[in-house]
Amino acid sequence: MVTVTHSFAGRDLISMRDYKRDELLTILDEATLYEGFEQPILAGKVMASLFFEPSTRTHLSFSAAMNRLGGGVLGFADARVSSTAKGESLADTIRVVENYCDIVLIRHPMEGAARLAADNTSLPVINAGDGTNQHPTQTLLDLYTIRQKRGRLDNLKIAFIGDLKYSRTVHSLIETLTHFDNELFLVSPQSLRMPPEFIEELDARGTVYTEDEDFFSIASDVDIIYTTRIQQERFPDPIEYEKVKNAYRIDRAAISKIGDHVTIMHPLPRLNEISTDLDDHPGAAYFDQARNGVTVRKAVLAMLLGVSR
Ligand code: CP
Repeated sequence: MVTVTHSFAGRDLISMRDYKRDELLTILDEATLYEGFEQPILAGKVMASLFFEPSTRTHLSFSAAMNRLGGGVLGFADARVSSTAKGESLADTIRVVENYCDIVLIRHPMEGAARLAADNTSLPVINAGDGTNQHPTQTLLDLYTIRQKRGRLDNLKIAFIGDLKYSRTVHSLIETLTHFDNELFLVSPQSLRMPPEFIEELDARGTVYTEDEDFFSIASDVDIIYTTRIQQERFPDPIEYEKVKNAYRIDRAAISKIGDHVTIMHPLPRLNEISTDLDDHPGAAYFDQARNGVTVRKAVLAMLLGVSR
């Protein structure tokens, strides 16, 4: 094991706004070195994994990444078994947990919770999703998958479909794509349009985009479809969810109208927005995204912990 002075050592990963294009590309390049890599370079390091919201991929792929590199994991996947259920504040929880670990991973329903955690510890903090705000490591694995499938991160036509209002994976990725030169198509029901602050950011950065409700009016020559689950748990009014829950469904017949060249992405979990008849389609990338999560998260953990392979 070689411990290095690395520009990423000790940093937090809270928002994609905190990382420049060159830094993102460095992480993605570094991640390629972690494909299948399983040496105990993180032996003696411990990750606290604090999940205040449900998760399968993020929780387990971070744990897998840590385990594959020889590190330890402690924490909880259900906040009801932590002392927050007795009313302990998040700030106090972090100030206590920092005594037990070297890095903190947190998912929380409140926007800004990961930043609040980082403000209460000198340890690196990774945002595993904070409300509708950000999900930075999902974005890194999405970028990694896009580059793997398309060979580049610029000069692409990318359609985002579904819940653009509440999906933090979309918000994180859209913001990050402003560092690159692509054409974006934002397809959603009126009630689930991209929030104004993200649209303003696209405008400020000169990103070319179109907003539409009809997928097929824009779909003919897109390179990538990035579709998302309608985020039922974020709706204040269940009736509003019922109105839009089946707004878009992509299946083999729909994709055949677009052409088999298209890459189909989804952060998962899916409900019915991607038919299972697409799972063996050559462009289906969503299970590759989930697999790439371990590779990318291995690199992120090692880099923030200041350890190189
Ligand atoms: N994509 C994603 O964040 O999945 P989980 O909610 O299962 O972690």
